[in-house]
Amino acid sequence: MNAGIIGLGKYVPEKVVTNFDLEKVLDTNDEWIRTRTGIQERRIAEGEETSDLAYKAALQALENAQISPSQLGLILVATVTPDQAFPTIACQIQEKLDATNAAAMDISAACSGFIYALATAKQFVESGAYDYVLIVGAEKLSKITDWKDRNTAVLFGDGATAAVIGKVSEGRGILAFELGADGTGGKHLSTNEQNFISMNGREVFKFAVRQMGESAVSVLEKAGLTKEDVDFLVPHQANIRIMEASRERLDLPEEKLSKHIHKYGNTSSASIGIALTDEIESGNIKDDDIVVLVGFGGGLTWGAAVIKW
Ligand code: ACO
Repeated sequence: MNAGIIGLGKYVPEKVVTNFDLEKVLDTNDEWIRTRTGIQERRIAEGEETSDLAYKAALQALENAQISPSQLGLILVATVTPDQAFPTIACQIQEKLDATNAAAMDISAACSGFIYALATAKQFVESGAYDYVLIVGAEKLSKITDWKDRNTAVLFGDGATAAVIGKVSEGRGILAFELGADGTGGKHLSTNEQNFISMNGREVFKFAVRQMGESAVSVLEKAGLTKEDVDFLVPHQANIRIMEASRERLDLPEEKLSKHIHKYGNTSSASIGIALTDEIESGNIKDDDIVVLVGFGGGLTWGAAVIKW
């Protein structure tokens, strides 16, 4: 018996902030942001906290999976922007959902958080401990963004995604995963004394290109598959150039790369799930497709998974 995604959802706040809006408040311009990152606009939450974004995505995933909150055994929320240290977002949405049978905890692995949550949920479902695990990736990065720092302010957006993990038939679902961390690189991407994101962009870029490519290839090996088997690549949406590098590493054509960075920017732990939801909804990923998810983030951390849809 395998664990797999049986329902998906996403939520992004309504307010759109374009590159042209940022030009008015920062020494930057649309051309620089678009060519260096692929971003054209991002969503910014106003009057909503991370738990609100998480809850809305979770409702959609539960509806999509056609299960009730009382059937959940565990809620895992990947976030680096919780409303407060505790209660966790997982506990907050457990209350809102009235998921009275679910244990709840947050996972902190920055942009790799969704893959960390996916791999954790897989263990609990395949061991038989829980029938259904709700995983969520939710971020309000706008609250830890220094809006005076052009090196970082242009990159991030707010959003949430959720997935219900349950049993699927043999040979389907999450076929393999890979998780990793390198604490020695933590200094390149962290929060500073003011709790704002601080980043050495060039170092993170080099790490991301290398690690995303290596993880995508090695997770396929773990699943007993090769590059030729891959139907779709859904990478963490941090920078279009990093995403393109991992597509090239898998020798995939342009149309097999999931891209939403132009609309949402980098939404950290929400980005892979938002992209996956969009590809499923638009029919680009179909039954039996082999899908590679791959991400990297602060920590430094990384993660990848192969799913047979
Ligand atoms: N607008 C205009 N100019 C800018 C801006 C801006 N917003 N930001 C930087 N510049 C300038 C720099 O000051 C520099 O000027 P200089 O040459 O006079 O010094 C020039 O543009 C080039 O800067 P670089 O840093 O070399 O630009 P690069 O091509 O490396 O792109 C970027 C920068 C986009 C940040 C890239 O390095 C990158 O994407 N890195 C990875 C970032 C990432 O993925 N982070 C993940 C965070 S996820 C998480 O865990 C929260």
